[in-house]
Amino acid sequence: MWLGRLELHDLRNLRDVALEMEPGLNVFVGRNAQGKTSLLEAVALLARGRSFRTEDTRALIRHGAPALWARGRAREEERSNELEIELFAGTRRLRVDGREVPARSYHGRLEAVVYSTDRLRVVRGPMRERRAFLDRGAAALWPSYRQALRDYERVVLQRNAALVAGTPDLAAWDEQFLGLAAGLRQRRAVYVERVRGALARESFAPAGERFDVRLGEDGEPAGESAHRERLRREMDARYRDERRARRSLVGPHRDAVTLTVNGQEAGEFASSGQARSLLLALALAALTVYREERGTSAVALLDDLDSELDEERATALCREVARRGQALVTTAHPGWARRLGPLARLFAVEEGQVRAD
Ligand SMILES: Nc1ncnc2c1ncn2[C@@H]1O[C@H](COP(=O)(O)OP(=O)(O)OP(=O)(O)O)[C@@H](O)[C@H]1O
Ligand SMILES: [Mg+2]
Repeated sequence: MWLGRLELHDLRNLRDVALEMEPGLNVFVGRNAQGKTSLLEAVALLARGRSFRTEDTRALIRHGAPALWARGRAREEERSNELEIELFAGTRRLRVDGREVPARSYHGRLEAVVYSTDRLRVVRGPMRERRAFLDRGAAALWPSYRQALRDYERVVLQRNAALVAGTPDLAAWDEQFLGLAAGLRQRRAVYVERVRGALARESFAPAGERFDVRLGEDGEPAGESAHRERLRREMDARYRDERRARRSLVGPHRDAVTLTVNGQEAGEFASSGQARSLLLALALAALTVYREERGTSAVALLDDLDSELDEERATALCREVARRGQALVTTAHPGWARRLGPLARLFAVEEGQVRAD
């Protein structure tokens, strides 16, 4: 899977951009604050319908402009689709081949995996960032996961409303809740096992670190009915608390996701370098799992990779990722970019302009 032509209008400082990318390695070179990360952000926006830097879509629109749009040609073997996203005044419009479509038929035509220090909140931020990281990865693999997540979120809202109202039909919500919650936990656990496997096998570890991700408590039950039983016990234990708090306190929307470096909880104990390495290892694992499951590579968006790794490692990693699929890499170092050799297609990013070099 790869992105060919890309056009952007009024996205952050990128006023008018049009470029042609190729499968393999595409490198964007520019000094600080010229628009490199914004360009990767635009590609992620096109793929996912949202930014990896902010929840506030208005922040993406160039200051003073009323709207932004991004358009790109997503290719996969014989398939080719023109994807388009337009944002204005709190509204988002998605189009495929010129036709407006709902989000559910937009998703899945272009998949991107991001490494950027702007994503460090996955490691350092609140638990929901880690849950969201897993949910995004799993939804990319299995479209039905997205639906399961939506159904679950809906039942949580309904059950919460019943808790607030103190209605007697709570027991009916409990049964629905249990079914959806157990299903989601089960599937999330499957995804986590895949990521763990990739983390252990790929062994990207600049200083020999062991990176790991865990879901919930140790000794998670296998199978949906075991999850259901466990959830029921957890709900029984929090029976009073839930009625007092008037909201659902157990379930996938509250489950812990733990990232560790050498067995230590990363958010608290990882050094800055280790936290960034962990983030990169997670991105590479997500790429691997996606490729294994879908038989095609997601587009790798690697922001400032060479400031993360020494030159040799950064080069090796770029080549490896680009050999398997398309990689868009940014750097502030033209020397390094040039040393990547003829395999790399270079672009210069300067004051919001992007041109082939
Ligand atoms: N909504 C916006 N409208 C206009 N400019 C913006 C907007 N949001 C951010 N910018 C500016 O766009 C510029 C490019 O930001 P970007 O993060 O893409 O830079 P970069 O090339 O990745 O830099 P660095 O190498 O420092 O990471 C910055 O000067 C930033 O302040
Ligand atoms: Mg940047």
